[in-house]
Amino acid sequence: MIIGLHLWRSRPTHWNTRCFPFWLPMHDTLHLRRCRTLYLEPRQQTSFDLRALVSGGTGMTLRSVWTALAPHLPAPVELNESQVLLLGRLDPERWEPRPAGEDDSDLRYLLAHGLVQAQGADRDALAEREAQLRQVPWWGPAAMLHWQGRWQGQDSVKALESAGLHTAAGLRAHLGPPPPALAPHAGEPRHLPRQPEEAFDRSLRERSTCRNFDTAQPLPLAELSRLLQRTLAETGRQVVEEDAVFLKKNVPSAGGLHPTEAYLLVQHVEGLQAGLYHYDPASHGVSALPSDARSMAELAALFTAGQHWFADAPVLIVLAPRFARTYWKYRHHPKAYRAVILDVGHISQLLLTCATEQGLGAFVTAAINEQDIEQVLGMDPMQLSPLAVCGVGWRAQQMSTSEFDPGGQVWTPVLTAEPPSG
Ligand SMILES: Cc1cc2nc3c(=O)[nH]c(=O)nc-3n(C[C@H](O)[C@H](O)[C@H](O)COP(=O)(O)O)c2cc1C
Repeated sequence: MIIGLHLWRSRPTHWNTRCFPFWLPMHDTLHLRRCRTLYLEPRQQTSFDLRALVSGGTGMTLRSVWTALAPHLPAPVELNESQVLLLGRLDPERWEPRPAGEDDSDLRYLLAHGLVQAQGADRDALAEREAQLRQVPWWGPAAMLHWQGRWQGQDSVKALESAGLHTAAGLRAHLGPPPPALAPHAGEPRHLPRQPEEAFDRSLRERSTCRNFDTAQPLPLAELSRLLQRTLAETGRQVVEEDAVFLKKNVPSAGGLHPTEAYLLVQHVEGLQAGLYHYDPASHGVSALPSDARSMAELAALFTAGQHWFADAPVLIVLAPRFARTYWKYRHHPKAYRAVILDVGHISQLLLTCATEQGLGAFVTAAINEQDIEQVLGMDPMQLSPLAVCGVGWRAQQMSTSEFDPGGQVWTPVLTAEPPSG
């Protein structure tokens, strides 16, 4: 159990809504176990108090509350001090008899909020999630980070626009100057010999995050297939034993484990019906997945959190690691989640490089609605969860959303030198 020390100003409390399990007999032989990953944070809540206003104050009162955070909880849970102490007395690994002399109502509260489980009791959704979490050797803080960082139903464009942060000028105006673009270095650098430009260099320079897709021109299946073959397909394997197989791919992967799955949201690919697919690196094939009543355009907008400049790409590629594969080797390891994120970064870089070489436009974004993607694709977020979405297609003839192309490598004439909005 780690005690955080951040102070948190008031936020809406929706944590006291669960009912206590009054059915549970609080007999002395009850065996209990607390959830394995648990963080306690003292927060400051502000609330409006009319009496404080009438008596000449601001009307705002400050209250300190203990808050329990855990990756299996849908929202933070407010605790009183005796509940905090009780949690500290319970074992997270072994079922142990309930501590003597503890208040029944505290225990019921912790049970009802999924912070404590009773041995043999029916598992509700919270207990089920906590049990699933135990099966994957997550490092606790990373599990929290992953769980808390997932969005649902966000429109990131609206949020940025309403804050005036959607242009570089707006960012500068609201946030002040950024740290310098170049880090200071000691002394005059020794210049390295510049090498003559080759076709590969030109291709690298032509990569620019594409925010203007040609929605009329379908992506030929052969182009998509080539791209996936280069970036995601298996290129070799080592079979240590029948149940211990390691794949080789064109991208590196921490521990050679290649945990990342790719899911396609196809909108406009010649020779492939619009829909959702799962990519199989071994056969270099795609399997159709069920979808709900929503159109692919609606889902694409949801997946990319309202970024309409990405949502109309002919195909989106959702990159979602199977954490257990990497955590099998790096068990409860403080670096494991970082390694998984880096893996996804390598895949996206190769996707963008290969797409450019094929004359296509491409992007990667982390501003995604992970929770919605998980629901649509039927993922259990502690086992399999998206970290990024890429997209690819033909570039439009005209730029209507700004791209970062100050050197005019992609767009001529240079319509704007507006730097990044993402
Ligand atoms: C991890 C990552 C996340 C990104 N997320 C977004 C995004 O949410 N929206 C967006 O428009 N661009 C996004 N971008 C693209 C960057 O804005 C872009 O790389 C940057 O402006 C530099 O432009 P360039 O890629 O054309 O060189 C992302 C890039 C990376 C590497």
